[in-house]
Amino acid sequence: MERPTQGRIEAFSNLLLFIRHNLKPETLRKLHVRKGDNMRIFGGRAHTSFSAVRALMAEENEKIDWFAGPLDDRADYLTKSYVPFLGEGPNHTLRRREIIGGVARAHAQLADLEDLLAKEKDHERALARFLYRHFAKIELTDADVDAHLDFRENARVLTLLPLWFRKTLLRGKHAKVKTFRTAMLKRMDAAGVSIADSWFDVIWFNSGTLGFYPEKAIETLKERKDLQPVIFAEVDLPAGQRPKTRALIHEMLRIYTKIPSTNYVKNGDQVEIAVIATASVDPEKYPDPYKVDLDRDHSDAIGFSGVSQNRGCPGEKFAPDAMASVVIDKIRKGALA
Ligand code: HEM
Repeated sequence: MERPTQGRIEAFSNLLLFIRHNLKPETLRKLHVRKGDNMRIFGGRAHTSFSAVRALMAEENEKIDWFAGPLDDRADYLTKSYVPFLGEGPNHTLRRREIIGGVARAHAQLADLEDLLAKEKDHERALARFLYRHFAKIELTDADVDAHLDFRENARVLTLLPLWFRKTLLRGKHAKVKTFRTAMLKRMDAAGVSIADSWFDVIWFNSGTLGFYPEKAIETLKERKDLQPVIFAEVDLPAGQRPKTRALIHEMLRIYTKIPSTNYVKNGDQVEIAVIATASVDPEKYPDPYKVDLDRDHSDAIGFSGVSQNRGCPGEKFAPDAMASVVIDKIRKGALA
């Protein structure tokens, strides 16, 4: 199928919107208040309410392979088989199945994450070690962890920039990023990891997100002392069995959502955008939406696109439990003392 594309000017303005949203999650919400329900963003028609977003996600439409950036040649940082952009077909089905299996195995090893967290002073470093160990069969050295964090920092920006920029002004960073990626893919291949390219995407793309929400959770607990007792009561429970800490993470995902939207093509050429950023604070669904409330029902949350059987995030169950472990580790180390 010939998928719809977007012009350079539209791509550029989408890119700016995406970056602004990432810096300030209220960006899309304010735009929605200004423009109402019939707005156009990220090259398509926006669906903004919780019910409209859920309904759109459930339709299982074909995906588009762009939203804002990267503008050219993303294969330098993300594989051609970057799973969220893949069209339907055996390549998507097989990669998705493999990832679901790997995530379920890692989910059963959260006690190992807690050991790593206890040993490292920085949760980002422990998360990197855990993800590479369980998804990529690689034990990271300290230097590898540094290189991974450096890669993430640079690739995050570079993926969104036009190729000429990366190959001129930022060519040093560009070369460094490519070298690290190539080296890690070789190590994963040597360790017998199938779909090493997709696993590498999964690790670098998600490790930062997994580190972000627990920090927000700690900030929230510092401000909302009334929430602390119920979280403290879960500190000594086993990893993966902390419903209120998990609920706290879901509230952070809902309020500070970093993934603004998911994108689809309908009837061959109609681009439809499910705006997670607005739907997750829809007052019809979440009364007093900016209040952190640990008693809300998150079973139908849309932040992981989980309503979609074939496109929902394979990390939907694992990620909140892993992030809850990070929160608990920080509390154990005195973050709220
Ligand atoms: C806070 C953490 C995370 C959030 C908020 C998140 C959210 C999402 C969302 C919204 C999508 C749908 C993207 C789209 O349709 O365009 C998605 C897809 C995906 N996520 Fe996550 N994710 C997270 C962590 C993870 C983790 C830990 C993994 C590890 C395996 C993962 C793997 C994937 C994959 C492979 C897809 C593509 C699924 C497909 O298209 O079949 N995610 N994620």
